[in-house]
Amino acid sequence: MGAATTTTRAPVLILLGPPGAGKGTQARMLAEAFGLVQLSTGDMLREAVAKGTEAGRAAKSVMEAGELVSDEIVLAILRDRLDAPDTGRGVILDGFPRTEAQAEALDDLLAARDGRVDAVIALEVEDDAMVARISGRYTCANCGEGYHDTNKVPAVAGVCDKCGGTEFDRRADDNASTVAARLAAYHDQTAPLIAYYDRRGVIQRVDAMQDIGAVATALNRIVESARR
Ligand code: AP5
Repeated sequence: MGAATTTTRAPVLILLGPPGAGKGTQARMLAEAFGLVQLSTGDMLREAVAKGTEAGRAAKSVMEAGELVSDEIVLAILRDRLDAPDTGRGVILDGFPRTEAQAEALDDLLAARDGRVDAVIALEVEDDAMVARISGRYTCANCGEGYHDTNKVPAVAGVCDKCGGTEFDRRADDNASTVAARLAAYHDQTAPLIAYYDRRGVIQRVDAMQDIGAVATALNRIVESARR
């Protein structure tokens, strides 16, 4: 009696925020904590670039300039990924949608799969903090776990906490001039989505200037309530 009911439909969550806000860091933690699938369009595009696919060849110079890849390319990649069976567990969209056209296309893609957006989490940060976060970022070359020179270091220097890997990568677009272009693209084309989702009553704002653990605690609460 009185117990909260739990939805049987897989939740669809969106992490919105500027470069360096912590979308990837938090999406990985949420995926692990709740068994959800992280869908990062940035990771998908970097994979396409590395493989030299047609989409990757078209995206490469756009990403290096810090601009947004065309809606057509991003939507084609996301559509294929959404059709994989693991997404039935529920998904966290990290870095998508980034334009109003992408948000509308997402609604159509989900509706065709009996789904909808359950919660949109806006990670709020100050622009000045972004450059420091991005310039200190590196990831494990083996498992992709993210680190930072000062904010998040491995327990044993030079060894990944997750997989024991000892090789690390830094992203080609993590430099000062590209970061400025990425921030401008965010403010021009992506930030308006906060109002778009606010009108639909699904936006949740989180102070992402807090430390990683405090942001994670706030996000866990939101995800728990979205699953009810
Ligand atoms: P993408 O890969 O999505 O990059 P981004 O949006 O610029 O975001 P980042 O990955 O840089 O940051 P993040 O928010 O994930 O931060 P992180 O958790 O790593 O996109 C790259 C490019 O691909 C785009 O520029 C565009 O060209 C293209 N693209 C992708 N999606 C697209 C789309 N939908 N449409 C069109 N084009 C698209 O954290 C950063 C660092 O800070 C880490 O070192 C971390 O340890 C640290 N950190 C995290 N949280 C905190 C905290 N709370 N306190 C202190 N440090 C923290």
